[in-house]
Amino acid sequence: MPNFANPFNANVDRKINKRELIQAIRLDIAGELEAIYLYEAHVQATDDALARTVLQDIANEEKQHVGELMTLLRHLDPLEASLFLDGENEVKEMMEDLGIESDRNPESTIGSLKK
Ligand SMILES: [Fe+2]
Repeated sequence: MPNFANPFNANVDRKINKRELIQAIRLDIAGELEAIYLYEAHVQATDDALARTVLQDIANEEKQHVGELMTLLRHLDPLEASLFLDGENEVKEMMEDLGIESDRNPESTIGSLKK
């Protein structure tokens, strides 16, 4: 939820170091995820077609922001990036064990998606 009561809430009086920047980026990602949750909750809560369209469009833009920030985070913290990849690979192994095809398979074609 917005936290504007203190206009200096997010300000610091010095430049932040790299560890602090990484923490700030994580907080920014959390803010984007919260925004997505709120916009999509409001999409689900109304039948107004224009409101649904506008709010979903904004939610989708926030999802792009998550992608930008995650890319920045991976750049700033290569160890964390490798841990993200470890987690992704663990899920891919589980999917393989369950016979679930990866939806991000670059070899997917329209034909293979119809299966
Ligand atoms: Fe955003």
